[in-house]
Order: sequence, then C-alpha cells, then structure tokens
Amino acid sequence: MFLWYMKNDAHYDRPEIYDQFYGPLKTLPDWFMKEISGKPEILELACGTGRLSIPLSQSPERSVTGLDISEGMLNLARKKADGQKVNVEWVQGDMRQFELNRKFDTILLLFNSISHLHRRTDVEDCLSCVKNHLRSNGVFVISAFVPAVSILNRDPEIRQNFMEYIDPDNGKTVQVTDSYRYDPSTQISHITHYDGDSDHVIGGLNMKKYFPQELESLLHYNKFQIDKIFGSWDQDEFGEQSDHQIIFAKKMS
Ligand SMILES: C[S@@+](CC[C@H](N)C(=O)[O-])C[C@H]1O[C@@H](n2cnc3c(N)ncnc32)[C@H](O)[C@@H]1O
Repeated sequence: MFLWYMKNDAHYDRPEIYDQFYGPLKTLPDWFMKEISGKPEILELACGTGRLSIPLSQSPERSVTGLDISEGMLNLARKKADGQKVNVEWVQGDMRQFELNRKFDTILLLFNSISHLHRRTDVEDCLSCVKNHLRSNGVFVISAFVPAVSILNRDPEIRQNFMEYIDPDNGKTVQVTDSYRYDPSTQISHITHYDGDSDHVIGGLNMKKYFPQELESLLHYNKFQIDKIFGSWDQDEFGEQSDHQIIFAKKMS
C-alpha cells in the first residue's frame, strides 16, 4: 500500500525526456522578476533539471540554490549549468525535510511542484522548512494550476495524446498517450503514460490537486500571509476565470 507514494514519480526517471517536453516552455517572465527584484538570494524547491534555476542564476547579482529529490534530474541540471558557466548550488534533498543552515530572500515552489506533497503533513513539513529558511522580509512563491473540473472528470478509460519525444537510446520518435484518474477522496490525479496506443506503461505521476481556498487555509494556519495572487503567467488578476494560482506569500509577523 502507498508504494507509489514512497518513490519519486516515474515521470522523472528519464530527465532528458522530461527536458524534451518541458525544456522549451517559457521561463519566468519580466513582471515576475520585478516582483522578486531586490531579493537576490534565491532557493528553488523541486528545481528539476534547472529549467528555472539556470536562467535565474544568469544575473551576477543573484545567487541561486536548487533543491530536488531526484539525483537524475539534478545530474542533468549540473550538466546544463556547466555548459552555460552559471553558478548554481545544487542540493539533493526532500522539500519536506531540509536544513541548509542559511536563509534566503526568495523561496520558489513553482509549476505544480506542490502537487508532489500529497498529505497535509507533507505541506506542513515543507512550510516549516520554508519558514526556517526565509528571511523575515522574504517572499515565498507558489504556482499551481487551479484544478479544472473538466480535467478532473476525465474518463479514466480514455487515452489522450500527451507528447512526442525522440528516444535518446535509438533515435526513434515515441508518441506518448496518457490516461487520467482523479480520486476525489484524496484529491490525487493518477496519470499514466503509455507507449502509443499500446498498454505498455512508460511512466506516470501522481499529482495532488490544490484548490485556491485550500492553499489559502494551509498558508494561513501555517503562519504565512498572502501578499499578492495572480491568475496567469501574463499577470492577470486572480478571479473566477483563472487557470493558475501564482501566490506571493510572506511570513506572518
Ligand atoms: C514538475 S517538476 C518541476 C521542475 C522545475 N521546477 C521546472 O519548473 O521545470 C517537479 C520536480 O519535483 C521533484 N520532487 C518531487 N518530490 C520532491 C520532494 N519531496 N522534494 C524535492 N523535490 C521533489 C521532482 O524530482 C521533479 O524534479
């Protein structure tokens, strides 16, 4: 029981394939960088292959630490950073339990990485670590999709095309389909990736869906206060049409 929980999701087992899909996505926009300007010591939790940490560290006034649980994801991050001669400190660790013996101006938990925290106690442990590592005037930023009922309602029997990648082992193009099963009792979406239309499972991930009021309560009862919240990566105001929740929080004084 709960074996899927003990282990990092298979989605992250092949970092070079992860990067083929997510690598080309936009990095942090200018308005976001303005929000964190003057807060140059940055910790990115769940930094993965450095998609965000590497560009963040390209400015000499910033120092960036990237923390991730996956050795493979971090190895690829290191390799990419070496090629770009940037200075990021990579730390293998669990965002629920880390001690870096220093404080930061900015702590980031972006692009749905909070969905890897499945239980209330996971969130509490993570927030406690964030609190210990954030300066009193520091900012903690979380971004996650607003759960969309149309997606949560997906028929688990129906496959959809997810992505295409070139297999680095043999140069062949693989078309990935996925199935999606949302469990309302745990609020976890179980996503399985298949090789084309076959039943051959090639990966998957289990994402806890966080609703806006729930995130607000979790932050509040763990002594964080929301300063600003945006509804998209275009900096739209947060509201009923929003598909994202981009939350800038600070420690309660
Ligand atoms: C969606 S990826 C995000 C990577 C990166 N932030 C980006 O935007 O490309 C989520 C990352 O969370 C990491 N992860 C999952 N559980 C974790 C944990 N408990 N502590 C630290 N990292 C974790 C995975 O290894 C993966 O690299």
